[in-house]
Amino acid sequence: MLIASLKPRTMGGTTNTGLLTYALARAGHPVTCYDADESLQLVAWGRDADDFPCRVHEADTPAFAETIYPSMDHSRINIVDAGHAENHPDIVDSVLEVADLVIVTVSPTPPDYARLTSPERGTPLAKVIRRSAALRPGGLPPTTVVLLNRCQASSSNPKRYAELLTNGGEKGNEPRWDVLTTRIPRREGIASAVGHPCDKRERRAPYDALVTELTRLGHLPEIRRSA
Ligand SMILES: Nc1ncnc2c1ncn2[C@@H]1O[C@H](COP(=O)(O)OP(=O)(O)OP(=O)(O)O)[C@@H](O)[C@H]1O
Ligand SMILES: [Mg+2]
Repeated sequence: MLIASLKPRTMGGTTNTGLLTYALARAGHPVTCYDADESLQLVAWGRDADDFPCRVHEADTPAFAETIYPSMDHSRINIVDAGHAENHPDIVDSVLEVADLVIVTVSPTPPDYARLTSPERGTPLAKVIRRSAALRPGGLPPTTVVLLNRCQASSSNPKRYAELLTNGGEKGNEPRWDVLTTRIPRREGIASAVGHPCDKRERRAPYDALVTELTRLGHLPEIRRSA
């Protein structure tokens, strides 16, 4: 399968992609990573962290669906980290043609909510995902979930923005999102995770919970244990 990690702007997407990769590997899934962001930070993480669990392939091309996807081992969980949907709509469109599951990283703050739902320039991500249906074999958009990141424990914002996203905004007339109950906390150990080993509990526990929730929701394949 292919999981696409998307975000409209800088939201903690690469952090979530990398730490989810470690968590999937800990759970026993075979994982392979693809970096579709020109900054290639996931590639650098895979190169620099001794314990990074898999290879990270460069994949920052608007021909992702045609040139990268067919070469994947589809019996594994393949994860692609995409760049800003606002700045690289061509790459994101191509990833959306073939993704089985989309995880949208959002920070529960006013500017980040606005960039997701009503950007001043560009197409709202919900519309980009919806229109991808036209190019997909089944004619439906990919299953999409929102993962809230950088959540301050003492703040009411995570709950407030989870409700707004779930209910289609204040008036209920905007796109509705499936928001995961797992929330990634705002932590110094997570802030400094990109490029480094996954050697701290705070880099592991929230992402183990994420894998548990994705499994419970039926979004991940069964783990095949060798006899
Ligand atoms: N859970 C967290 N707690 C605190 N800081 C975080 C957390 N997750 C990410 N950050 C910080 O947020 C910033 C953006 O993270 P990251 O590079 O993962 O985002 P991105 O969406 O991939 O950005 P880019 O636009 O560069 O691709 C970084 O400074 C990172 O340290
Ligand atoms: Mg990034």
